[in-house]
Amino acid sequence: MTGSVANKETLLQKKQELQRAYEAFKAQGLSLNMARGKPSVEQIRLSDAMQNMTFTEEDYFVNGNDIRSYGMLEGLPQARKLFSDLLGVPAENVLIGTNSSLNLMFDAVAMGYTKGFSGCEPWCRQENVTFLCPVPGYDRHFAITEYFGLNMVNIPMTEDGPDMDQVEELVKNPCVKGIWCVPKYANPDGTTYSDETVRRMAALSPAAKDFRIYWDNAYAVHDLYDETTPLLNLYEECQKAGHPEMPLIFSSFAKVVYPSSSISAVAAGPQTFKALLDAASYQMIGRDKVNQLRCVRFFGDADGVKAHMKKHAALLRPKFEAILAILDEELGGKNVARWSRPRGGYFISVDVMPGCAKRVVELCRQGGVTLTGAGATFPFHKDPADSNIRIAPSLPPVEELVKAMELFCICVQLAAVEKELSE
Ligand SMILES: Cc1ncc(COP(=O)(O)O)c(C=O)c1O
Repeated sequence: MTGSVANKETLLQKKQELQRAYEAFKAQGLSLNMARGKPSVEQIRLSDAMQNMTFTEEDYFVNGNDIRSYGMLEGLPQARKLFSDLLGVPAENVLIGTNSSLNLMFDAVAMGYTKGFSGCEPWCRQENVTFLCPVPGYDRHFAITEYFGLNMVNIPMTEDGPDMDQVEELVKNPCVKGIWCVPKYANPDGTTYSDETVRRMAALSPAAKDFRIYWDNAYAVHDLYDETTPLLNLYEECQKAGHPEMPLIFSSFAKVVYPSSSISAVAAGPQTFKALLDAASYQMIGRDKVNQLRCVRFFGDADGVKAHMKKHAALLRPKFEAILAILDEELGGKNVARWSRPRGGYFISVDVMPGCAKRVVELCRQGGVTLTGAGATFPFHKDPADSNIRIAPSLPPVEELVKAMELFCICVQLAAVEKELSE
């Protein structure tokens, strides 16, 4: 028997074994969903008390304004102060949004498209408007730029954040108007940008005056462990570098309190902040400030938010650790996948063998486990290597996650063997 024939026989035997294990799982009739990073019901319940809060007549009057009524479009001063403390930005440059920071991001891109930043032509009258997209990244960021018909260029992620050599080169093109960033515990790979990356980001000299850094600090307080991973303050670094209008900093309490009743924030340089507030004034006369008060009262201050997040961490950490333990045990040393080991955030990123991600997701689906679609972490859902899969541990209970991940590991190996055999 030649070496290649022997190898083929071994592979066929391995495939048979995996196929048997796969069929046994299928027979269990699983129906599990690990597609999106939603908080579990136990996490949601941590904020139940917020709904029973009552206020006095006095509480409703802030700086002479009745917060139950119209007005105060920029948000309640206490809520602006809270995000100012959490994000390290001046409170007067913070605009409080509704329950969704994505809404603020959409509005910012819409403003660039319809009205223009810094007195520049709106993008709807410019050709080839382009956003830089660190990959793997957040699908809903890419969906916003896709909605407006903008070009997107993939920027590979490194362990320090986006490849800054490529970013520095590409911003010399005046068509490049923005970069999407999740700087802390990035979705999906959990990376926190290094100080060097943040400094290089702030020091960028884009050819386009209307270039902005869309800094989505969604996981600013979402540590899984007591020790946080520090992130340098982009707002301050941009000030120091003489680019005060470049950062657009977003965050929200969507995964802190109820996702549907949270508040969000955007901070921007003085001119950009004014423009954002002006654009908002055409959409509404004021947001729900009673809910803003509810959030502020629930936490008291930034330390109160951090203390609350420790309760979330206690619920999330065992889920992340259970998944990592199974990945280590089932796939470790087999050369069929590599995965991230996040210290915070909501996701684990797995790179399976090139050309196998779609097959793995499909095998899991047929086996009763829904995962985020392969390709979702790339613009236009196109992962050139067909390799990245995002795992969302937060929603299912640990026992379900364990089952789902055991099936996942079988599928990763099965797809790898199928690939080897086809070669
Ligand atoms: C990076 C990132 N930004 C924003 C969001 C959504 O935020 P919000 O609920 O405030 O719109 C998510 C949710 O998964 C996310 O991962």
